[in-house]
Amino acid sequence: MFSRREFVLGASAAIGIVGAVRPLLDWGAVEGPAIPGKHGMIVRSLRFLDLEMPVEYANSVITPVEHFFVRNHMHEPSTVDPGEWRLSIGGEVKKPLTLTLAGLAKMEQHTVIDTLECAGNGRAFAVPHVPGVQWEKGAVGTARFSGPRLRDVLERAEVNPTGKHVMFRGRDEVPGKVPAFIRSIPIEKATDGDTLVALHMNGAPLTKHHGLPARALVPGWIGAASCKWLTEIKVLEKEFEGNFMSPGYRMPNQPVRPGDAVRAEDTHPATALNVKSLIASPGDGVHVKSRAIHVQGVAWAGEADIAKVEVSTDSGATWQPAQLGKQQSHYAWRLWSYPWTASRPGAYTIMSRATDTQDRMQPDSVQWNPSGYLINVVDRVQIHVQA
Ligand code: MTE
Repeated sequence: MFSRREFVLGASAAIGIVGAVRPLLDWGAVEGPAIPGKHGMIVRSLRFLDLEMPVEYANSVITPVEHFFVRNHMHEPSTVDPGEWRLSIGGEVKKPLTLTLAGLAKMEQHTVIDTLECAGNGRAFAVPHVPGVQWEKGAVGTARFSGPRLRDVLERAEVNPTGKHVMFRGRDEVPGKVPAFIRSIPIEKATDGDTLVALHMNGAPLTKHHGLPARALVPGWIGAASCKWLTEIKVLEKEFEGNFMSPGYRMPNQPVRPGDAVRAEDTHPATALNVKSLIASPGDGVHVKSRAIHVQGVAWAGEADIAKVEVSTDSGATWQPAQLGKQQSHYAWRLWSYPWTASRPGAYTIMSRATDTQDRMQPDSVQWNPSGYLINVVDRVQIHVQA
């Protein structure tokens, strides 16, 4: 496993950087034990495993599983035997059924490249502070997921006309009085041709951290919609009522002033992701030897597509278009790059700002809300170009 120091030095060498100014502990990283299947991650919690991807890894269309963030509300199942595992489908259906992994694998498989982002990504930038995992930039990643369409699974069970929402239950190990991880999505999203019961991630069976042997994959929506370690799918007449639907994962209906309380009846469930971009390189706080700097990163927009990414090298006074990467797939982030030559040595604030096909543009400041969800303020890094 890379230590933070090795990782920063390795990345620095690649882009001609002579030293990171920010102290390494600034990253909020907890020095933890090696975590099987993961490398170079920022540990946000070890009790329930929460791992953030260092933003420097946002430099490829597909994020390797070893760098893909992990968000767990409770303990991962201690044992998972894919041979014994069963998925039950019931509720508002004519033919309740139970499927095995082999049964799911025999169904038509569909592949979706999806940018999965935790609703709380960026929460650390909320002022005033909001409770929850203090994610900075990297509770996000893009992977190639495949498995049967949820629609095909539901068709086998024959959903009644009364079925309006689809509930997922995960097999997390629930400590004490914590409620189980159960959430629902509307039937329209559940029966979209890209919503999956995913069995594979980047061409290999899901690993334990990511939901072995099956997870829901609800593309373009907040990560919480994509229930891991799936054991039950239940069709409901109404939205599921439970902790992870309310008070969890709700947004205020109207913008609120930072610090204001919001009444439950003035909120709605968070669904699709916001438009957002990240600067993968140069890293924040670096000293750069060369004036020629390749600014690069990723941008995504949930259920919309990226229309443009702009870069500012003068703290937001002027903006120039970045070049978008050729590889493009709906729900997946788009690489972008901006070759730039600094006119003189000194300190610079570089910013990136994405606009999507729904005409949404990243805001200049954090759109505060009580849970710090869907924060998509323009990204910025400060660098020092040496003489
Ligand atoms: N599913 C279960 N069963 N338990 C969980 O804690 N966390 C959710 C979602 N699915 C969670 C879950 C949240 S909040 C996110 S952001 C994504 O899983 C993270 O997926 P990943 O850990 O595969 O990156």
